[in-house]
Amino acid sequence: MNDAKQRRILVTGGAGYIGSHACKTLSRAGFTPVTVDNLVYGHQWAVKWGPFIKGDIHDSRLLDRVFRSYSPAAVIHFAAFAYVGESVSDPGKYYQNNVAGTISLLDAMRRNGCPKIVFSSTCATYGNPRKVPISEDHPQQPINPYGRSKFMIEQILKDFHAAYGLRYAALRYFNAAGGDLDGEIGEDHEPETHLIPLVVQAALGLRPFVDVFGSDYPTPDGTAVRDYIHVTDLAEAHVLSLQHLLAGGESVCLNLGTGKGHSVREVIRAVEEEAGTKVPVREAPRRAGDPPMLVAEAARAAEQLHWKPRFTDIRYIVRTALQWQRSHAMLMEEATLERQA
Ligand SMILES: NC(=O)c1ccc[n+]([C@@H]2O[C@H](COP(=O)([O-])OP(=O)(O)OC[C@H]3O[C@@H](n4cnc5c(N)ncnc54)[C@H](O)[C@@H]3O)[C@@H](O)[C@H]2O)c1
Repeated sequence: MNDAKQRRILVTGGAGYIGSHACKTLSRAGFTPVTVDNLVYGHQWAVKWGPFIKGDIHDSRLLDRVFRSYSPAAVIHFAAFAYVGESVSDPGKYYQNNVAGTISLLDAMRRNGCPKIVFSSTCATYGNPRKVPISEDHPQQPINPYGRSKFMIEQILKDFHAAYGLRYAALRYFNAAGGDLDGEIGEDHEPETHLIPLVVQAALGLRPFVDVFGSDYPTPDGTAVRDYIHVTDLAEAHVLSLQHLLAGGESVCLNLGTGKGHSVREVIRAVEEEAGTKVPVREAPRRAGDPPMLVAEAARAAEQLHWKPRFTDIRYIVRTALQWQRSHAMLMEEATLERQA
């Protein structure tokens, strides 16, 4: 395989939050990310580090064209829908996009002789934890269609590995958070449901308040505890997984988290300290299906990939999110004024 081909990587969902950070890290590591994204949720401004093909992973002809034109050495697959609540009210949409879309991608990989994939899985595949921290051997019993769609893909990857020799890394992320360290890209979901951007936006006056769902959990301050992993650390784990597969490594299923948990109130406090302002809060009842605590047992990724998250301080994670929201809000406001002029 020539070197240029070895370095081209097809990134589905590369215009999204985690995908765009992975593209930047790939490019820094000497790879050329080739993004395929239908822009249903992603942003063209976030694709800065390689070719962009606007398209859908269900489109077999488009995928064949991309494989023929770029001959990527592997695929990193972020493209999916990821709103848990919507997956409950409209499961068909989730199984169609996440499961059928992935099968379409895997078939295109087989047709075009590309047998390596890094896949965005999630801690939602574990369901309600029986034991925290959660190790990779914890039973996977997802409690919503989003989690089930990701679990189904993990099972499909296993079957494709056994039958067709596919090599894969299924990376089970905990809560991705923060923004690019240079402030070039960051989190911009519409609608936004993730805690850190919501708290940051409330601190900046971009939303009136942030809801705290449940203050009666069996946790030290009564609010839910999550494991926040900086998006740049996540991106680095993708490059290490890719290098592992390209070097002929075995398929792996790995948690990506820090192993540390932070409560909702701790996150709010960190944002208040970083922003120097009080965050308006509205107390609300628990949401169905929100476990009290989700924290990763993160040793396996350290052992198998030599990956160690670097940005684990919650104040630092929040600072990068705040910096991004500030500059991004200003740019968006300028763009609106330009359009109105
Ligand atoms: N953000 C998190 O905390 C988190 C946690 C666990 C797992 N994940 C998974 O990581 C991945 C990326 O998450 P994100 O937060 O960056 O989401 P995102 O919505 O920002 O990115 C997903 C991208 O995929 C694109 N896309 C969706 N369906 C597509 C299709 N059929 N064809 C082409 N493009 C399509 C969207 O336009 C978007 O740009 C998702 O698979 C998600 O399930 C995210």
